[in-house]
Amino acid sequence: MKRVRVALLGCGTVGAGFVRLAQDERSRIAARHGVELDIGRILVRDPSKERPGVDPALLTTCATEALDGDCDVVVELVGGVHTAGLYVRRALANRRRVVTANKALLATHGRELFAAAAKQGTSIGFEASVCGAIPIVRALRDGLAGDSIDSIGGILNGTSNFILTRMEDGASFADALADAQRLGFAEADATLDVDGTDAAQKLRILAELAFEAPVRSVSVTGIREVTTTRTPSGVVRLVAEASRVAGGVALCVEPRVVPFGHPLGNVRNENNAVVIRGRAAGELLLVGRGAGAMPTAVAVMADVLAA
Ligand SMILES: NC(=O)c1ccc[n+]([C@@H]2O[C@H](COP(=O)([O-])OP(=O)(O)OC[C@H]3O[C@@H](n4cnc5c(N)ncnc54)[C@H](OP(=O)(O)O)[C@@H]3O)[C@@H](O)[C@H]2O)c1
Repeated sequence: MKRVRVALLGCGTVGAGFVRLAQDERSRIAARHGVELDIGRILVRDPSKERPGVDPALLTTCATEALDGDCDVVVELVGGVHTAGLYVRRALANRRRVVTANKALLATHGRELFAAAAKQGTSIGFEASVCGAIPIVRALRDGLAGDSIDSIGGILNGTSNFILTRMEDGASFADALADAQRLGFAEADATLDVDGTDAAQKLRILAELAFEAPVRSVSVTGIREVTTTRTPSGVVRLVAEASRVAGGVALCVEPRVVPFGHPLGNVRNENNAVVIRGRAAGELLLVGRGAGAMPTAVAVMADVLAA
């Protein structure tokens, strides 16, 4: 049995989900993967918060204690760009393997961080940064490694999709957003969800994986101005699409009317869907929970086990 020591940075929605999954799946993970996960320090801001199922003795507010202590894998679930970036750089400098769900960080500093990881002979797992439980990073990196991708896109933001489908059922924008926040799948700053930034960040990560070509243009429109979510021809969805254009790739995120009967029209609530068009493979559709504590924790766990 291999003992893997994990330093967990952040114990909010996803971090607490990860702790729970590690507990719930402990014996199966040991039997199937021969790995005993040992969550050591857990970095938080406020150690006095109620955290059911989390051993308070593991909590610390001292980042260096978590980062520089004995561990094999650093799991970054703090969010944001600046502080999370400092933590990840330090973890890589310490030659730890890093797992993160932080698309904002990767969309902003991904190239630099992946280069630092390669230089240090370590790795960054980021399956959880795009589309929660949908194993899209592995699909692109492994399953479709032999194909040329013509386009990739779909519904990449669960909060916007939840709001649009609730509005379809008669809720107001504000009520639907409040529900998404209460249920734990809105970003801490929900502006990133509703203005399309979160979808654009994920799209950029997918485009970098799918195409060996530079991003030539980015166009992002969110759902704030959407007043009608159902038309005679279809339903409105926030659609993200990356496609090949002359000299590179164009990224577009915008609310679109999806015709009735189209697979994206059937994707409701916080679900995500990714449509990939491969030259040889043809069209693939992956649908699943794109956010929330446990679906995202599953993707984090996959990277921890791979690391
Ligand atoms: N929520 C989702 O469904 C989802 C889905 C996919 C990806 N993600 C990504 O996963 C990451 C975490 O998201 P989340 O929703 O779990 O966030 P969250 O609920 O806001 O949790 C953040 C955690 O980090 C801690 N923290 C924040 N800033 C800190 C600092 N400066 N020093 C120490 N601890 C700090 C917080 O401590 P306290 O608990 O003491 O406040 C909290 O435990 C983000 O990058 C997000 O984009 C989230």
